[in-house]
Amino acid sequence: MDFFEYKNGAMHAEDVSLSDVAHSHGTPCYVYSRATLERHWHAFNDAVSAHKHLICYAVKANSNLGVLSVLAKLGSGFDIVSGGELMRVIAAGGDPAKVVFSGVGKTHTEIRLALEKGIKCFNVESIPELERINEVAQSMNVKAPISLRINPDVDAKTHPYISTGLKANKFGIAHEDAIKTYTAANALSHLEIKGMDCHIGSQLTDIAPFVDALQRLLGLIDELAALGIHIEHLDVGGGLGVKYNDETPPHPKEYAAAMAEKMKGREHLTLILEPGRAIAANAGVLITKVEFLKQGEEKNFAIVDAAMNDLIRPALYSAWQKIEPVTPREGNSAIYDVVGPVCETGDFIGKDRALCIMPDDLLVVRSAGAYGFVMASNYNSRCRPAEIMVDGSNVHVVREREVLSDLWKHEHTL
Ligand code: LLP
Repeated sequence: MDFFEYKNGAMHAEDVSLSDVAHSHGTPCYVYSRATLERHWHAFNDAVSAHKHLICYAVKANSNLGVLSVLAKLGSGFDIVSGGELMRVIAAGGDPAKVVFSGVGKTHTEIRLALEKGIKCFNVESIPELERINEVAQSMNVKAPISLRINPDVDAKTHPYISTGLKANKFGIAHEDAIKTYTAANALSHLEIKGMDCHIGSQLTDIAPFVDALQRLLGLIDELAALGIHIEHLDVGGGLGVKYNDETPPHPKEYAAAMAEKMKGREHLTLILEPGRAIAANAGVLITKVEFLKQGEEKNFAIVDAAMNDLIRPALYSAWQKIEPVTPREGNSAIYDVVGPVCETGDFIGKDRALCIMPDDLLVVRSAGAYGFVMASNYNSRCRPAEIMVDGSNVHVVREREVLSDLWKHEHTL
């Protein structure tokens, strides 16, 4: 459930008309709803409240400081994948002691930074990474808290680009190598084994792969206990899907209930969840303006002022996101491909959409709060859009629209 709905003929974010936002702040423009972010975060937190737990929001989904600060105020933890994300969390008021650090390529500098800031845990993805973390920790005379990301080899049945739990993926440590890798970690002087971790993919709409993965991990935890290696927390990753169109993803409650069933008798184990999309996607939209309507030989095009550089998911994953008029008109609709001004055939926001629109109309692209702005680029020397956070009837600019001189700010002529 989100707080974007039509009121008095115009789409609103909470109590604010998106048409007013567009007129005051221009287009294209991302708009987030604080109440929605909070609602989604609480849905996860409440769902696992019976168990010791920590919700570590996956910063990569939307790393805007405004978004992070809203979640930090709720007491959220964070899942990061770079030193940049760590510094964003801290800049937004997040607690580094509630940060877990994922990713296959952590550099010396990032590991040192994370140890200096006192993060909760490194989710380690390979033996060379274990050795590197041990070495950096030794040079600082500290012990690094670690968990191993185990690749449970379950098929998440999602888009191949966002499926991560299969043997063929670059992520994690193979299930069959888990015990020997934990034993190796246990022998390294400057590591402290804290947990076990996995993340099997994103936009999963079925509970079964999560439960299969959990089951496999719990088996490993028991094997390790028999060897005297005790796991304090189990991080099940993110990946719960959202409704873009006609998907029927499970509610966090159902997901948590399925897991609780398997966690019976394991009250000592802290459960960590890393949801990104399920918190942020439907807490944001992208507003764009129709520039031209163009009749091609075979198709009608609505050329809008947002493009693949602003929202790349349709071009990159053939992702479908709902497109609606901000202020619906009376009349017959026509079928349009909604495309941007970038010079690529793949530059589209949506294909074959029935819309009743005129030039200058405003459209809203739904479910754009996750993997939207964070994946935006300056391709075609386009300024990245503004980001706005609505909170009740208040409107906060949480990132200014870039201006032309920003485009070459870090460049030099000869
Ligand atoms: N934890 C780890 C280790 C991850 O790699 C990810 C996402 C998450 C948590 C959060 O997953 P979520 O709850 O958001 O599904 N750009 C793609 C999605 C890439 C996801 C990468 N990893 C998209 O736009 O669909």
